[in-house]
Amino acid sequence: MMETIKKRRQMLAGSMADHSLAIILSGDAPVTSGDQFYDYTPHRNFYYLTGIDRSNMALVIRKLAGKVEEYLFIEDVTPLEEKWSGARMRKEEAQALSGVENIWPDRDLEPKLGAWLLNEGFEHAYFDLSRGSFNHANTPQVDIAQKLQGMYPFLQVKNLYHLVTKSRLVKDEIEIKAMRTAIEKTRIGIESLMASAEAGMKEYQLEAYYDFAIKQEGVKKTSFQTIAASGANATVLHYHANNQPLVDGDLILFDLGCEWDYYCSDISRTFPVNGKFSERQKAVYEAVLDVQMRCIEKIKPGLDVADLNKFAKDELAKKCQELGLIEKPEDVTNYYYHSIGHYLGLDTHDVGGRGGILQPGMVITIEPGLYIEEEAIGIRIEDDILVTETGHENLSASILKTVDEIETFMKNSRGAN
Ligand code: GLY
Ligand code: MN
Ligand code: MN
Repeated sequence: MMETIKKRRQMLAGSMADHSLAIILSGDAPVTSGDQFYDYTPHRNFYYLTGIDRSNMALVIRKLAGKVEEYLFIEDVTPLEEKWSGARMRKEEAQALSGVENIWPDRDLEPKLGAWLLNEGFEHAYFDLSRGSFNHANTPQVDIAQKLQGMYPFLQVKNLYHLVTKSRLVKDEIEIKAMRTAIEKTRIGIESLMASAEAGMKEYQLEAYYDFAIKQEGVKKTSFQTIAASGANATVLHYHANNQPLVDGDLILFDLGCEWDYYCSDISRTFPVNGKFSERQKAVYEAVLDVQMRCIEKIKPGLDVADLNKFAKDELAKKCQELGLIEKPEDVTNYYYHSIGHYLGLDTHDVGGRGGILQPGMVITIEPGLYIEEEAIGIRIEDDILVTETGHENLSASILKTVDEIETFMKNSRGAN
């Protein structure tokens, strides 16, 4: 593990300009209200480059006259703080996890940077300047970039985000193993949902079976807010009020996942509240499933994701015509209004955007859907697919998916309740 993480840093250092340093913060948890904080989650590129998930740390990589040095600044240990909030990470543990030899207390970060920047001829400073969208608040990484540039105006600020994401897009064995585990825990949670669904429950009451099952499995966190959308609610892509009653005869769409070592699963399954699809629901479900399986079949190195998007849309348009929903293919957008998928990894919507050419080691979701509001039918089927040297592997192949698998499982498991 540590050797893999060292290689990730070597890759980053190899892409950095000479006479530069990179500063990557682990972040800390923002206040929610009063003296309470959001759960801490590590800045993903810090975690990727160190294997450490502790707040208030900084990784600094120096590249000067071709020589690379790495430093990790970690929180000071004070015995009283440890009595309140538990053990802090010690130098030896930080070294063992990350493979960084030079470990300093965090109070030394600014004095060290000051000395290095003034005296050693650095010209460039790299920070992770990623921003989810234009309106998002500045991250601590942006704040420190602005502060240092204000203090040392000769510094050219550079963005290291794309240098790291290039390698994050292609997953190594450790990452794939964590994702397999996240997906396996998700499978267990989904089976608990299918076994527990009953008309009259609220969507959140059924959702609670998933939360319970994955927590029993040692999962700390879902990878995003679970979508538990029955009937027409499922036609709203990001519905997560999850507060409506389940109606006998309706379908329920779950889009959910969980984190394992911060690696995400992202799965959608749609099933009948009463365990049996109506003829119409089955026809729509099998239309989506057929397109989903044919999209998965196409996954191999060299495939352009734009072509896959076009294929999915064209095929769903044909299905909509067969289902009597539309006459003109372009009207498919009335019933399918998102893209076929996204890369998956340390983030649910992982680095790499929604396009590109597939390479071995990438993991991409395949998640076509049809959303027919006037029939209160919303169906999405989503699996997580690893691109291999020769094609692909469906990492979520063991999660119940066909009409027959779902109906048989629900009949047997609900009978047993
Ligand atoms: N759950 C978000 C997505 O499927 O992309
Ligand atoms: Mn999803
Ligand atoms: Mn997804």
